[in-house]
Amino acid sequence: MGLIGGNSLQKLIGQALPRNAPGITIGVEMTILLNDSSLLKSQAFINGAWVDADNKDVFDVKNPADGAVLASVASCGRAETARAIEAAGSALDGWRRRTARDRSSLLKAWHALMLEHSEDLAQILTAEQGKPLAEARGEIAYGASYIEWFAEEAKRIYGDTIPAPSNDKRLVCIKQPVGVVACITPWNFPNAMLTRKIAPALAAGCTVVCKPANETPLSAYAFAVLAARAGIPDGVINILNGRTQEIGETLTSSRIVRKLTFTGSTPVGKKLMAACAGTVKRTSMELGGNAPFIVFDDADIDAAVAGAIVCKFRNSGQTCVCANRILVQAGVFEEFTAKLTQAVGALKVGKGADDGVTIGPLIHETAANDVVALIDDAVAGGARVIIGGGRSGLGANFVAPTVLTNVSHEMRLFSEEIFGPVAPVFQFETEEEAIDIANNTEFGLASYFYTRDIGRIWRVSEALEYGIVGINEGIISSEMAPFGGVKESGQGREGSKYGLDDYLEIKYLCMGGIDK
Ligand code: SIN
Repeated sequence: MGLIGGNSLQKLIGQALPRNAPGITIGVEMTILLNDSSLLKSQAFINGAWVDADNKDVFDVKNPADGAVLASVASCGRAETARAIEAAGSALDGWRRRTARDRSSLLKAWHALMLEHSEDLAQILTAEQGKPLAEARGEIAYGASYIEWFAEEAKRIYGDTIPAPSNDKRLVCIKQPVGVVACITPWNFPNAMLTRKIAPALAAGCTVVCKPANETPLSAYAFAVLAARAGIPDGVINILNGRTQEIGETLTSSRIVRKLTFTGSTPVGKKLMAACAGTVKRTSMELGGNAPFIVFDDADIDAAVAGAIVCKFRNSGQTCVCANRILVQAGVFEEFTAKLTQAVGALKVGKGADDGVTIGPLIHETAANDVVALIDDAVAGGARVIIGGGRSGLGANFVAPTVLTNVSHEMRLFSEEIFGPVAPVFQFETEEEAIDIANNTEFGLASYFYTRDIGRIWRVSEALEYGIVGINEGIISSEMAPFGGVKESGQGREGSKYGLDDYLEIKYLCMGGIDK
C-alpha cells in the first residue's frame, strides 16, 4: 500500500467546517495523505461509540512543524470519564472470562491491522507529533510489536503449586487480572507508549480507560478504530481527551479503577501516586530520566559517536532514555567531541514529513523555550557552544542540534532532563569518577557506556544505579526486554516476560481436608 499515487489515495483537505458540528473528523487546515480516511477521528471512544463531549466543547490539535490545525477534538471532563470507567467496568467480566487463546487471537488481529495500516498511522503520527516519517514508521512497528508480544504472552500466564506445611493441605497460586486500568500517556511516542500499556492489560484480562496527551490524540484514536475492526469488544478499550485535571481526578479517585499506569514526568507521576493512595490503587510509573552516556578511553570511538547520535537525537531528543549527560574520559575527549560535532553537523533539521529530515520540531514553543533556557543557562555559566546553540531559524518550535563543552555539574542541564537536541559533553579521569558522576542524580532510568574491557563491562554495569544499561549500544528499547527505572524514574516494567506482572494479582488458594 503506497502512500503517494494509486487510486485509493485520498487527499484530505479539511474544509472550513463548523467546529462544533457532530462527527467532524478533520479540522480546518488539515492536509494528511491517507489511504484510509476513516482512521481519522476527533471524538472520544467510549463503550465502542465515537462521542462528542457533553457540552460539545473541542480543542485544537496542531502540527508542531507549521502550527496548522489538524483536528478539533472532543474536550471531555468528569462526566465522560465516569462513563468510560463504567463502560470498562461493565466489559470487564466478559473480557476476563474469555479464554487466553481468544484474547490472544483478538490481539493478533489488531496487530495485523496495525501493520496493514502502518503507513497511514505513521503519517498521522508525524503530522501531530512532528518526528521524521522514518522514525514514525519505526514507532508504528515498535508499538505494534508490543501487541504481538503480549498476544503471545497471554497464553503463558502460569500459576504455581507450593509444597504444603502439612499433608492434608494443597497450596496453589493463580493469577487474575487486576481489573479496570487507567492508562495516561505522553506525546513523545503517541503510539508505542499506549500499546505497551493496553496490550499487556488486555492480555491479562483487564479493560482500560486511556487518556493520551492532548497534543497527540489522533494516533490513539486511529488505532482504536483498528481495535474495533479487529473485534475487540465494546468497552474493553476506552479513550478520551480534554480537561486533563478533571480526567485525572476522576480516574484516580474511582473505586472501579484498580490500577493506574503512567508515562510522563516525575513531578506529575508523584502527584498521581499520591492521588491513587486514597483508593490504594496499584501504580506503574515510567517517569523522567537523566541518562549518563559514558565513553571510556578504550572504547571504539566511531561506534560511541554513532550510539550517541541515535541515543541523543532520536525524536529530537524528546525521549526519557535520551543521553542527557555525555561523559568522556580525558584521553579520548578531543577525538570524541570532534567526531560527534561532525556527525551532529550532518543532521538535517526540518518538517518531519519532508524527505531526508532527521530532526523535526519540538512538540511546541514552550518545549523549545525550555530547551533554549537550558542552553542559555549553561552558556551563562561558561559553556562553549561547539555547534548549534539555540533555535534553528525554521520557526519557534525548532531547536538546532547542539554540542556544548566546558560544562559543569552546577549547570541546570547536569541535573535536569533536557528533552531536546542538546548534547553537553563532560570530561572525567577515572572509572570511579565516571560512576560517581553517573549516579549523582535522583533519576535511574537508562544509562549507557562504551568500553572494550570485559572486566569493566561487569563492574560498571553492576555499579550503575539504573533500570537499563546499554553497553556499546545506544538503542535499548525492545518489546522483548524489560523497560523501566529505579529511584525517582519510576516503578514497574513494561515489555518482556515481566510486563504482564503489573496487570496481574496473585491469588493464593489453600485447600485443606485432603487426607479425610
Ligand atoms: C520514553 O521516552 O518514555 C520511551 C522511549 C522508548 O521506548 O524507547
